[in-house]
Amino acid sequence: MPGSQTSADSRPHVVLGVSGGIAAYKACELLRRFTESGHDVTVVPTEAALRFVGTATWEALSGKPVASSVFDDVLSVRHVRVGQQADLVVVAPATADLLAKAANGQAGDLLTATLLTARCPVVLAPAMHTEMWEHPATRTNVETLRSRGVVVLEPANGRLTGADTGPGRLPEPAEIFACCADILHRGDAAATLDLTGRRVVVSAGGTREHLDPVRYLGNSSSGKQGYALAATAAARGAEVTVVAANVDLPEPAGVKVVHVISTRDLASAVQEAAHEVDAVVMAAAPADFRPEERRAHKIKKRSDRAAPELSLVETEDLLAGLVTLRGASSLPVLVGFAAETGDAEASVLDHARAKLRRKGCDLLVVNDVGGGAVFGDDDNQVVIIGTDAADVPVPPGSKRDVAHAVWDQVVLRWGS
Ligand code: CTP
Repeated sequence: MPGSQTSADSRPHVVLGVSGGIAAYKACELLRRFTESGHDVTVVPTEAALRFVGTATWEALSGKPVASSVFDDVLSVRHVRVGQQADLVVVAPATADLLAKAANGQAGDLLTATLLTARCPVVLAPAMHTEMWEHPATRTNVETLRSRGVVVLEPANGRLTGADTGPGRLPEPAEIFACCADILHRGDAAATLDLTGRRVVVSAGGTREHLDPVRYLGNSSSGKQGYALAATAAARGAEVTVVAANVDLPEPAGVKVVHVISTRDLASAVQEAAHEVDAVVMAAAPADFRPEERRAHKIKKRSDRAAPELSLVETEDLLAGLVTLRGASSLPVLVGFAAETGDAEASVLDHARAKLRRKGCDLLVVNDVGGGAVFGDDDNQVVIIGTDAADVPVPPGSKRDVAHAVWDQVVLRWGS
């Protein structure tokens, strides 16, 4: 790691850049998360950032002196040293102005100079008004930065300063931290950003098929594995859309989230997002059946106490549909998930292989749920099977670890 070679302090060295937006106050929480988990943090605010949160706050929270100009502490050549010693640079919030300066290689203050001298992974967490985020100038700057291997997180969608809402909010500090921790954990910068330039779609959660305005057929999928796939892909540099069916979790940083309810909604959102992408990972559990009719009014109990008749129809199979849509092309790489149990006729893997053939996808991530594995756990244990290679058993680990193992396999398919 770049920083570890140049400093005696064995803690990972993080530079927290803060540019001048109202979301600068949220960087205080990000800073606390880094320091409390054993990171050495140098805060580099811009002059404008100091108008929102002052030097005293950054120094107290980081336990270190804070400078924003290249003329502070000239003898130690700080404008070069800070970047050289870093294991990771994260800028949160990154304003439109900061993105423009970074894309153009300007180095008029300590933060932009640090971005030029850093050879470690760089994460930018933009926050600005929707109009600024969507302006062609900002789009070009983001593209330029991403093409150079900078992780530019998608801003979150929601309430902005003032009355307006839209994409432009700073992702939650906990999610920015998780992304940075993931990058530091994986080390080597080249391998870390191996999804740069790739566009991927992940589905997550479980769909609901309504019988009437208040009741539905659903399942217990929490969406944790799908969100872990989305978060890790973003941390490895991909542009990610996650289609989330009834997921009640904090949105991963740097990911576009489309919320849906039913299998039909999921199908149209995935198909729309999957246009010209490099991979689609179907981690969602779509309902296999839906009521033939959705009643407009709540179904009432009958006076003769007879249960209502329910007529169900099969929903469409999205994964099989994507395989058909792809035709003879090798992209996108298509990945399915399968929770299976073994029985008298066949083992878990036999059932999974039959499913892989039936669905026609490239990879199937197989989960043995026979031993009572529960939906919603933070950990997972899977075997990844493919049409073209040996099975890859993934040892028990966090859902983020499993997600990385899945992306490793997808990267191999892209390479061939
Ligand atoms: N899947 C899908 N569309 C459906 C059902 C499932 O795209 N209507 C996807 C899931 O997201 C998953 C994979 O197919 O990636 C396997 O899901 P699973 O429920 O195991 O498949 P089924 O075909 O429904 O098989 P089973 O009869 O075992 O439930």
